[in-house]
Amino acid sequence: MTIIRGAITIKQDEKEEIQSAVKELLEEIVSANNLKREEILSIVFSSTSDIHSYYPAKAAREAGFESSSLFSAMEPEINGGLKLCIRVMLFIERNLKAHPVYLRDAKALRKDLTQKINIAIDGPSGSGKSTVAKRLAKDYDILYLDTGAMYRACALKAIQSGVNVEDERNIFNLMQSIDLAIEYQNGSQITLLDGNDVSTEIRQPHISMAASTVSKLPCVRQKMVEKQREIAKKMSCVLDGRDIGTVVLPDAEFKFFLTASPEVRAKRRFDELTAKGYSVDYETIKTEIIQRDIQDTSREISPLKQAEDAILIDSSQMSVEAVITAIKSKLQEKI
Ligand code: DC
Repeated sequence: MTIIRGAITIKQDEKEEIQSAVKELLEEIVSANNLKREEILSIVFSSTSDIHSYYPAKAAREAGFESSSLFSAMEPEINGGLKLCIRVMLFIERNLKAHPVYLRDAKALRKDLTQKINIAIDGPSGSGKSTVAKRLAKDYDILYLDTGAMYRACALKAIQSGVNVEDERNIFNLMQSIDLAIEYQNGSQITLLDGNDVSTEIRQPHISMAASTVSKLPCVRQKMVEKQREIAKKMSCVLDGRDIGTVVLPDAEFKFFLTASPEVRAKRRFDELTAKGYSVDYETIKTEIIQRDIQDTSREISPLKQAEDAILIDSSQMSVEAVITAIKSKLQEKI
């Protein structure tokens, strides 16, 4: 069962206004959530006590929502509360990710949901970007885009095709036909290469260096940046990577640059890989992290770099919670 919420305001307490607002709100919820009208079990409205002219439930029936059970209630009058506002809850039988819809002045009720924001988190590998980005996405109910996964998928494609990751001409050819898609299942990013879920495969340690190498090539970056911008343009999301704040989304509303000492990052990666069952050596990981830092920061195009307007957070001595709290306090100043 899923409950989807929404709200809309009207200018005057008039039957026609209520009818058109209810229609607009319900149609918008249906479209934002890809719903079929038949799967809406019930629709429950509440309206502020300054609305007397018409029942929103009746307006819903007239707007064609005939198969759902409908109910309207009046809210108590709250001092300083929003005026002339109709709120709604839709009950859907299946489980889906709900996209609430707040229209007109009702947007003020949920600024966090209605304002489109892009949060860029850049930094070297092991700085904790993905852990932090995933948590922010969950807490703010927005999308998380792991851009590193896309470069990892490119590296995997090259390896599967027997193409050397430094071989620009052949990688260019691969990029012309690469079938790379990003999907979301239960809030987690799924990376699909040629239609196959490669989300686990791309996490293998040998793919990390290959991804760093392949990501130096202009043909790879151009293609990936285009895809990343396309996703970020459509919805609020947290993106983590190396060049999000500098190149992919220079106008992102929020930019953070997360870093930590190579030792701390190597230890985090070591713990993460050991927990996944890989038998790894700390010193080897540390050397590889330093090598990747050099490669990622010294490449010609879109090197790993802190954007001038990004907030720097050194997490060497900070817990994940402390980093999240620091970022959230910055976000809350604006949203
Ligand atoms: O974040 P990660 O470790 O999954 O990234 C793998 C490699 O991909 C990284 O070493 C450099 C490259 N990358 C990039 O060049 N630009 C990004 N926005 C993200 C990753």
